[in-house]
Amino acid sequence: MSRLNIRKIRESDLQKGFLESLDSLRRASNLNRRRAKAILRNIASSKNHVIFVAEQDGVIVGSTTLLIEQKFIHGGGKVGHIEDVVVSRGVQGAGIGQKMVRFALRYAKSRGCYKTILDCDDKVKPFYTKIGFKAHSNGMRYDH
Ligand SMILES: CC(C)(COP(=O)(O)OP(=O)(O)OC[C@H]1O[C@@H](n2cnc3c(N)ncnc32)[C@H](O)[C@@H]1OP(=O)(O)O)[C@@H](O)C(=O)NCCC(=O)NCCS
Repeated sequence: MSRLNIRKIRESDLQKGFLESLDSLRRASNLNRRRAKAILRNIASSKNHVIFVAEQDGVIVGSTTLLIEQKFIHGGGKVGHIEDVVVSRGVQGAGIGQKMVRFALRYAKSRGCYKTILDCDDKVKPFYTKIGFKAHSNGMRYDH
């Protein structure tokens, strides 16, 4: 049976299919490896920007990002923001996405977040409602 391990990203994951797994969301595997390493180092320099990966049999088959926002309102509370939830095409529908999001939610709670929010397309809403998310507010965007 294949073993699934969900954990924080490491630099060596760039050689284990991390960028290729992102392709299910938007093409990333064409990113120059030196640039990818620089991006990851920049991300890792903040403890409030965390990427979790799902590793199966030594290959990265999914990932999700969690940003932790410190507020002044809500008594200085913290809010988790989930971004870029993705599972490789060949292994979708096997519960990996749900396990990664639940992992990120537990981590957000352990870091003191009182809520975690995300934006998604209508078609993916059932995936998140099954985990316990409720539709709330409207996503807005400004293109620079
Ligand atoms: C959306 C995605 C992350 C789900 O991951 P996954 O591992 O395939 O999903 P899971 O197997 O954990 O699914 C858990 C449940 O959600 C449901 N579900 C999964 N994806 C769904 C979708 N796109 N629409 C509706 N329901 C979905 C599953 O049927 C399953 O339901 P069940 O427990 O009743 O069987 C994955 O399909 C993916 O990477 N899609 C492309 C990228 C994307 O759209 N990401 C979301 C960005 S907001």
